[in-house]
Amino acid sequence: MTKKFPPDFLWGVAHSSHQVEGNSKGNDWWDWEQKGKTKDLSGWACDSWNRYPLDNKLAEDLGCNAFRISLEWFRIEPKKGEFSAAGIEHYRKLLKDMKKRGLKRVVTLWHWTSPLWFVEDGGWSDKRAVGHFSSYCQKVMEELGDEVDLFLTINEPRLPLNRGYLTGGFPPGKQNPFLFFKARRNMIDAHRKCYDICKKTRPNIPVGVTQFCNIFEYKNPKSFFWGFIKTMEKKYNWYFQDNIKDKQDFIGVNYYFAMELSFLPPFVKMKNVDKELTEMGWGVYPNGLFEVLMTGWKRFKKPVYIFENGIADEKDARRAKYVKIHTEAVNDAIAGGAEVKGYFYWSLLDNFEWRLGYGPKFGLCAVDRDTMERIPRKSYFEYKKLIAKYQKEAAMAKDNHKK
Ligand code: BGC
Repeated sequence: MTKKFPPDFLWGVAHSSHQVEGNSKGNDWWDWEQKGKTKDLSGWACDSWNRYPLDNKLAEDLGCNAFRISLEWFRIEPKKGEFSAAGIEHYRKLLKDMKKRGLKRVVTLWHWTSPLWFVEDGGWSDKRAVGHFSSYCQKVMEELGDEVDLFLTINEPRLPLNRGYLTGGFPPGKQNPFLFFKARRNMIDAHRKCYDICKKTRPNIPVGVTQFCNIFEYKNPKSFFWGFIKTMEKKYNWYFQDNIKDKQDFIGVNYYFAMELSFLPPFVKMKNVDKELTEMGWGVYPNGLFEVLMTGWKRFKKPVYIFENGIADEKDARRAKYVKIHTEAVNDAIAGGAEVKGYFYWSLLDNFEWRLGYGPKFGLCAVDRDTMERIPRKSYFEYKKLIAKYQKEAAMAKDNHKK
């Protein structure tokens, strides 16, 4: 079993429409921000709507062979059933530009932001959501499917469901378990329907979702509670993917941190191999990524991709090491037999971090908020070196194999 990354492994960066495009008047998050629910207003974000060639070039110069973005639903379908040719054309240009630069295009249909008309029609907890989302999907498949290499229908379904319908921290700000269950059912149905649409329209494009994966541990691995926590963790992490088992071509995971649970205060503690927590208050625990990859692979026996992994670190003192130890964990999972096919660092740019506004800095590149200039940090060049090294090793291993 080789311990090396395969030559066709996808090395990428990721971001999402609302977090970078700017001027997203027309979606529910924009409205949410105007109601004072976030630390900052997204405003012009990174102005990537206009400056996407700069972003694509940064990914290309980084040595990436893939870029994960999302489409902004309201820009494609500003009114129910009315599609915008200009919006579609914009994304077509953006995707073509990526291709020109040798970047495989990973496209998410829904990264948490919905058109206002969708919200007025009841949002995800209304049965009509399935039809609305499928018709958006159908249009995207027809118009843009030839410019996409891999499709994600929904980003991390669990987060917007928990926060949107249980804790109220995300739009639509509900705290109602009854609506939560309805919304979850509809999201699952919507994905299932979209999968069929994609397969009919573009049978060759792999389709799936990506899920935020938590690792939970108990102090003592030998205790009964360890086993119990692990069983619950798997049910929690994989609930959505278990329900779309037959309608996904790969397993998408987003991994950031792991937690240790106990019966005594503080009850929940971040696992951390570093001295401090990150700007998000998260620990650094690459072994959690290894575990997520192994369990995902064993559970579904489908190729696994890491579509997000990253650290908020404004001083950029810890990012390069973070990426190194996490990619080593990916390598260990490959050596352990998991078919892992891609790693995407979150994020290329410092962008709009939802509730926390422009506070946390995840970017390989800083963004000057006045001039919108992108300023690559040291870790950008470190990630570049790392990609080059892994690719060189992969090429050498392939040549040796041939001899
Ligand atoms: C989300 C991103 C977010 C990142 C960092 C992920 O859960 O998909 O949109 O910026 O975490 O918090």
